[in-house]
Amino acid sequence: MELKLCFMGLGSVGRELIKLIDRKRDDVQAQYDLSFKIVGIATGRHGILVDPDGIDHSYALNGDWADRAWASTEENRIKMIRECGANVLVEMSPINRETGRPALDYLELALNLGMHAISANKGPVVHGYRHLSALAKKQNKAFLFEATVMDGFPLLNLYRECLPATRVLSFRGVLNSTTNLILTLMEEGRTFDEAVQHAQEIGIAETDPGNDIDGWDAAVKVCVLSNVLMGADIRPQDVNRTGIRAITLEQIKQAQLARRKWRLVCTAEWVEGQLMAKVAPEEVPANDPLFRLYGTTSAIQLKTDTLNQLTLLETAPTPAQTAFGVLADLIAAARGHY
Ligand SMILES: NC(=O)c1ccc[n+]([C@@H]2O[C@H](COP(=O)([O-])OP(=O)(O)OC[C@H]3O[C@@H](n4cnc5c(N)ncnc54)[C@H](OP(=O)(O)O)[C@@H]3O)[C@@H](O)[C@H]2O)c1
Repeated sequence: MELKLCFMGLGSVGRELIKLIDRKRDDVQAQYDLSFKIVGIATGRHGILVDPDGIDHSYALNGDWADRAWASTEENRIKMIRECGANVLVEMSPINRETGRPALDYLELALNLGMHAISANKGPVVHGYRHLSALAKKQNKAFLFEATVMDGFPLLNLYRECLPATRVLSFRGVLNSTTNLILTLMEEGRTFDEAVQHAQEIGIAETDPGNDIDGWDAAVKVCVLSNVLMGADIRPQDVNRTGIRAITLEQIKQAQLARRKWRLVCTAEWVEGQLMAKVAPEEVPANDPLFRLYGTTSAIQLKTDTLNQLTLLETAPTPAQTAFGVLADLIAAARGHY
């Protein structure tokens, strides 16, 4: 079987996905009799490539498409989805936290055209999970998004495939790598500003680090997990959110003296029929699994009605791991596991 892929976005994740598809070509073929052909790639500013016969991977990665690219317009992105001949749309464009659009519209269009819809972008999941899932079900196609939380770590697929008839009662975790790295650097003696600057220099924090520091990224992930694992329907503004800006070096030192550590903790639980979702700094004691999270490591504990507590820990996330989450979804879609 061959999946024909249409990429919406070719940044860190998309580029790693191309490399991973190349690296895993023989394994995927041997294990699943499956191959991939990329027939469309859209970007924000660097043009759009379409070739129903397949786009050469080196050419795509080289990025100099001047002679063959369509202009990067909204109209052309929609034309690409309609005309490139793909049977899967892979959404890897930047998040729109407020509405999830236009990614949500692209995924909806793809499903309506009978394509599978796979997203690394959290926006459409936060704002369109119920709608897109129902549409995918109606079309008998996949809507999968493993890469959206904890990168490629098999959290959502584990829930779907390995926790049958299980209710997630609550969850608690550290889901933002940048803030955990900043807090770790402060534990090593750097000020907040020095820690942010270092995180930017090594490419972990963005030029405008507010999305991480103010807890927005964590809040978005809390929405994905609450809506998908716990049947809620919340948006980032519904999350009781406090970032790490106000934490001082003195507070970090005091916590260390008491064998405690500050962590930006994400929680969600049902209280009297209402989902209480929160992102806030917490001082965690040494016997808490979140105490040991160093640098960019993240973790989640699910409280369930079958396995009691389940803890997953992800160390040193990279865009290559995120790309693995997308590859896992592609294979699941091809195998009809959705
Ligand atoms: N990086 C990670 O490890 C990671 C982890 C989990 C989830 N994600 C999510 O995965 C998605 C991709 O992340 P990334 O790190 O690859 O981002 P990135 O490096 O910033 O790349 C984004 C890509 O999307 C393109 N783009 C911008 N606007 C677009 C539009 N309107 N339509 C189509 N393409 C557009 C950009 O093109 P131009 O460069 O031409 O503007 C670029 O190719 C994001 O939603 C991110 O939140 C990423």
